[in-house]
Amino acid sequence: MAINLEVNNLRISFRTNNGKVQAVRDISFKLEQGKTLAIVGESGSGKSVTSKAILGILAGNSIIEGGEIIFDGRDLLKIDEEEMYRIRGDKIAMIFQDPLSSLNPIVKIGKQITEAMLLKNKASRRESRKDFNSLLALLQAQMIADCGASSEARIKELTSTFNSFCVEANKLENAYNHAANTVADLLTDVEDVQFKASKNQKLDGKALLREYANKLKTIKEPFFTAKFTERMAAVSAELLAARKYTAEKNALGLPESVLNAITQLENLLRDMQEQPRPNFFRIGFYAMKHPGEDLTGRDMDKLNEEALAYLNENFMNEFIALQERGVAYSHRQSVDKKKLVLEALKEGKAYFSGELKSAGAMKYAKSLADLVDASIDRLEIVKDGVAYTFRTSLNSAISRYFAAVAFNPKEEARFERQTKKHDALVAKGKNVEWKVVPKSLHDLDALKNQIVSVLERLEKKYQDDVVATVDYHQRCIEIIDYLKEKASKVVYKVTKAMAKERAIKLMEEVGISEARMRFNQYPFEFSGGMRQRIVIAIALSADPEVLICDEPTTALDVTIQAQILELINKLKNERNLSVIFITHDLGVVANMADDIAVMYAGKIIEYGTADDVFYDPRHPYTWALLSAMPDLDTKEKLDAIPGTPPDMRYPPAGDAFALRNKYAMQIDFEQQPPMFEISETHRAATWLLHPDAPKVEIPKAITDRIARMKKAGGAENG
Ligand SMILES: Nc1ncnc2c1ncn2[C@@H]1O[C@H](COP(=O)(O)OP(=O)(O)OP(=O)(O)O)[C@@H](O)[C@H]1O
Ligand SMILES: [Mg+2]
Repeated sequence: MAINLEVNNLRISFRTNNGKVQAVRDISFKLEQGKTLAIVGESGSGKSVTSKAILGILAGNSIIEGGEIIFDGRDLLKIDEEEMYRIRGDKIAMIFQDPLSSLNPIVKIGKQITEAMLLKNKASRRESRKDFNSLLALLQAQMIADCGASSEARIKELTSTFNSFCVEANKLENAYNHAANTVADLLTDVEDVQFKASKNQKLDGKALLREYANKLKTIKEPFFTAKFTERMAAVSAELLAARKYTAEKNALGLPESVLNAITQLENLLRDMQEQPRPNFFRIGFYAMKHPGEDLTGRDMDKLNEEALAYLNENFMNEFIALQERGVAYSHRQSVDKKKLVLEALKEGKAYFSGELKSAGAMKYAKSLADLVDASIDRLEIVKDGVAYTFRTSLNSAISRYFAAVAFNPKEEARFERQTKKHDALVAKGKNVEWKVVPKSLHDLDALKNQIVSVLERLEKKYQDDVVATVDYHQRCIEIIDYLKEKASKVVYKVTKAMAKERAIKLMEEVGISEARMRFNQYPFEFSGGMRQRIVIAIALSADPEVLICDEPTTALDVTIQAQILELINKLKNERNLSVIFITHDLGVVANMADDIAVMYAGKIIEYGTADDVFYDPRHPYTWALLSAMPDLDTKEKLDAIPGTPPDMRYPPAGDAFALRNKYAMQIDFEQQPPMFEISETHRAATWLLHPDAPKVEIPKAITDRIARMKKAGGAENG
């Protein structure tokens, strides 16, 4: 299963006037592609801090003490704000508890959705243009470097040809796609109306016919319509003619004559949809070389074939042959430099293992990172993350080390000072209410090892790289595909009208009826549940891969809650989203989570599939959460969990839940339990799982509840 997002050993604290709050204490989890991971725990357990860390929106007083958040081959804790901005919203979107906090109260809903789209589109076009240009320029330079000055003029001509026909081809394709989309939408609408008519629902036939005739007129793209112009005119006339019927008062369904005209339209749309599609990349080149020739009515399959032969003969074969030389050249250069880097890494490991001075270490790191930067083969489309992130990884490992070097003596001093004060007060016989915060010193050796391990990781990668064989032809194809994709993004211009249509579609997708009318309303004109739907629409407007929902239903009443959950679930399935769902209520995620992480006091104390956690819970805190779940069947009184969570400035030495846990043993107060593996998917951190622990039965109220859930679940799954 593909892992979309991975959090490893994440630790986050907050600096406050009253000391350091340890909000997240070493948590790890994996989010699988297309799955829902629920993070469940009481208020203050660190759920929101975790999700904010993923999005890079932690408060200013936060300290990332350690760990990594891996997404798209990169560590989100180490990338800069500009890059984070691109990921946030674009790839990872978030929905908060209170929809009003994400909406601007004085801007119409529609505008809030389209603005997000237009902004993203503009940025993405600019970026794609940059990416396209820089890769093509690099390719050109490497081709010239290998082929020599005599070929320079020819190579420049070829690359510029490639540039212009890529863009031309994409313009054609865009127009074509737009027409094809209109046809697809119209067809869906027609089918819907036919269905309603068959069920004798009330329909306004005259309005429908006019609307269809108008829509048909907007489909004009010549490549798309060439073969159908006459039929389109005929169907259009028929639709308009069919309007001349006398509707009986309160008639249901549609009269036969209207249905016939609509069927004609349906047949036409289907035929249009089924026509062979032009391959614009090939045809664009052919069209460029044969201006004035009308290609639109040609047999598309034949034209696609002919255009390919023509493209290969007149451009592609030569281009790829030269390109292969450029790619090979670039690769050879890179391998030579990687060998130098390997030498430097050997030295570097010795250097960083020795005595370190801050300024010297930083300078050394910079020269090493420069060497690594220069060794990267920039014509490699599939980027190796290790080399690209080397500089930031190394710098942050070094900074952490020197921060700790500076911190430890201060911490020693603070501890001594407070202990002295405390002891003095006790000696005076005073009743001292406060405790001395235990000293927390950093392990300098471990931090130094982390610096060295950054080097070792790259060393391993480069040792493989310098002996690997590369398929240059394959690499050329990858480059061309990449350039084609970028070029298509450059020309994909979202207009205001398109954005509006897409926004209305999105609003419909999230279940807002009369979307076209409500497009022009203000947030206050919507109910709470509807507002949350709008927020979801905005989150989806950039087509994210990951959706983080932080208690999205807590502010809503129970029936609306269920609807929003259902919506999130539906969107997840339809769009293959990976979802992190945060809640304090296990009951909420019963029907939607694939995996569940139970958090308590900044730690994950139980982690498993939904079945593991619901049917075979092991941590007493999970038991408590289960018994606190509202149970609609039995109307049982809720069992609130007694006691309060610990003060996170002084996290307990042992299991943080021990104080509230009636099954706690002595060791629970003294030592942190490790994560015990229960099965391949199921883990829990409680001493009860230690082989020497006394056998504790799960409370009967909970086993009863599990039995009921199993029964209900079993019936549901049929
Ligand atoms: N900016 C901050 N400064 C100091 N402490 C903070 C800050 N942000 C969060 N915390 C603390 O971090 C801990 C975890 O907070 P977090 O918001 O993640 O809780 P939560 O699990 O989302 O709870 P809730 O269910 O109330 O939303 C809490 O003890 C909180 O007080
Ligand atoms: Mg929260």
